[in-house]
Amino acid sequence: MNSWESLKQECAVCRACGLCEGRTNLVFGVGNEQADLMFIGEGPGEQEDLQGVPFVGPAGKLLDAMLEMINLDRSIVYIANIVKCRPPHNRDPQPQEMQSCRPWLERQIELVDPKLIVCLGRIAATALIREDFRITKEHGQWFAYGQRRILATFHPSALLRDPSRRPEAFMDLREIRKEYRALPGTNSL
Ligand code: URA
Ligand code: SF4
Repeated sequence: MNSWESLKQECAVCRACGLCEGRTNLVFGVGNEQADLMFIGEGPGEQEDLQGVPFVGPAGKLLDAMLEMINLDRSIVYIANIVKCRPPHNRDPQPQEMQSCRPWLERQIELVDPKLIVCLGRIAATALIREDFRITKEHGQWFAYGQRRILATFHPSALLRDPSRRPEAFMDLREIRKEYRALPGTNSL
């Protein structure tokens, strides 16, 4: 069995935190398993829990549109979440749950081996960049994540609630596109 298959099989039966109790499906990840660019959201919502795929509800539709704006899609990038099981009533995942789920995400990041990581929203940014990360002030800037680079932008759900943030999010997308295009072998976009 290869590393991806064993990781998926192990993760599928995870009961490391209480979120396992409420899941219909564990939501592992989707997209290109060798992507140079990886997007990380917060956790599954209702549709994701039902389908077992990240970002397939209303926020997912907007994420797909955002990717399209920079000539990307799910066959090019990889998409995952901080927690793999849906928090009840879509509440924020708790620090303990994020910590329990972290090893799965770290193994995903190692296997995908992306050059660039994009946090979708505050929760992912506080988990991966800095605990006191301020999304309104620090979105669109690159930080270090080991040897990789990481940036946070607004969560598509936040953009649905507050469309006035969309121009800023679009600037972030342009920044992501610029750095993505500058990677070796990706200048055809
Ligand atoms: N919101 C997220 O953060 N992740 C999903 O997969 C869906 C909605
Ligand atoms: Fe395991 Fe993560 Fe699901 Fe918690 S959320 S049960 S740690 S896979």
